[in-house]
Amino acid sequence: MLWRLQHSRTNMIAYISRRRRPSPPGLCQHSTSLGNVRHQSTPSQFYHNRQLELCASKEAKPLTLRQLVFFGRSMSEDRLLKSANYVRTELPVRIAHRLRDLQALPYVVVTQEGVAKVYELYWSAFEKFRNYPPVTTLKENEDFCNFLRVLLDEHASVIPNLSLGLSLSSPYLPPEKLDAFMRRMLISRISRRVLAEHHIALSEMYVGLENEEHEEPHVGIIFTGLKVKRSIDKCVKLLTERPLWLEVGGRSAMDVRWPQVEIDGHLDSKFAYIREHFEYIAFQLLKNSMRSTVLKHQGVPVLPPIQVTIVAGENDIGLRISDQGGGLSSFQNEISNPSDLFSFSHIRNATRLEDSRLGALRMASEHGLRATVDEQVSRWQQLLPSKGQAFGREDSENSEPNDLSQPRIGIGLPMSYIFATYFGGSLELVSLDGWGTDVYLRLPRLGTNLEGIEV
Ligand code: COI
Repeated sequence: MLWRLQHSRTNMIAYISRRRRPSPPGLCQHSTSLGNVRHQSTPSQFYHNRQLELCASKEAKPLTLRQLVFFGRSMSEDRLLKSANYVRTELPVRIAHRLRDLQALPYVVVTQEGVAKVYELYWSAFEKFRNYPPVTTLKENEDFCNFLRVLLDEHASVIPNLSLGLSLSSPYLPPEKLDAFMRRMLISRISRRVLAEHHIALSEMYVGLENEEHEEPHVGIIFTGLKVKRSIDKCVKLLTERPLWLEVGGRSAMDVRWPQVEIDGHLDSKFAYIREHFEYIAFQLLKNSMRSTVLKHQGVPVLPPIQVTIVAGENDIGLRISDQGGGLSSFQNEISNPSDLFSFSHIRNATRLEDSRLGALRMASEHGLRATVDEQVSRWQQLLPSKGQAFGREDSENSEPNDLSQPRIGIGLPMSYIFATYFGGSLELVSLDGWGTDVYLRLPRLGTNLEGIEV
């Protein structure tokens, strides 16, 4: 046991020993003399890495959606610079917590393909933030935004890398530990990206340089009047007009009939939310429903529709998506409890160790995952292999003849769960085996819930 721990430390030292620049004052530092400590590459250097400890000993300051909107509503140069410096000092604290989590993993996990890569990315980002000087002018803020953009892009491969590494480690970690670790990593990642992207969007708004025209009102990345039906319609359109699938049961996807999506309930519902998060969830849930409906009803002239019901409650926006795709048992034989589909452990969800998933994850780790549903669709289309080959599979012998040849990395559902619960919402699946699945999504509409405690 001790041997393993020692090796785990030694292994990590390889990643953290690098040349250091002296740090600017003020950030996660209580004494400048500590700066030298990390020049040594010894186990004690690793654990006594004071800069990391100093940052990790600070509490993250979780925010609510409402605070993010409130702060961004009446922008001034002074407030924008405050926002920049908040991001500059808060992100390294949040990253330090996760670096500590990574350091606590057993050696066998740390050395898995993917995990080491993520550690390296986080360590490098931590160092860059720690060394970033205070932002004092609009020009410096522009540079800071560019710095953030580069980091956001560099970290596009974090989720597939983590997912790959933890899938490969699944035999060595109890499922509850593995899932708790993944949850902290993913919630924290969402939180950091929200802060960085919100600051960039506020800066673009302030200087009148927004990339995209938005019909709906928004402050930074938060849409204050997000139209629920409009986003669902957009996801349906993306899924059916630009199919991600090459073939279905031997037929070209272009010849496949897609189920109609019927939307009822409170069709005019609006709420304040991060559009990217809402659309990610809606897209993934609809994709799953469409896939199971098409596969269940092959050869049938008219497919049963998918029913989406929107309910605007006093405190929440609710969404129920009902399909007749046969329920979870049709396609997930080994799943005993629907919530196991959110798990990254092969003990709860055997598909985690399937070769085809691991292959698709390796591919995604190389190319990174895009944030918005529009970007995701275009990206996957570019990456799809030629007709007849399944994404991420080495040879066609392994492909499932009746499956949709889309990239199935198995991240959509667990990530939707993480997005849903990040600001205190919920996501539940109810399977009527042999008939279909109902998915219940609830998202808070008042924006007063704090980010998940794991930030
Ligand atoms: C991530 O995407 O994992 C991040 O931490 C992004 C942040 C460095 C801007």
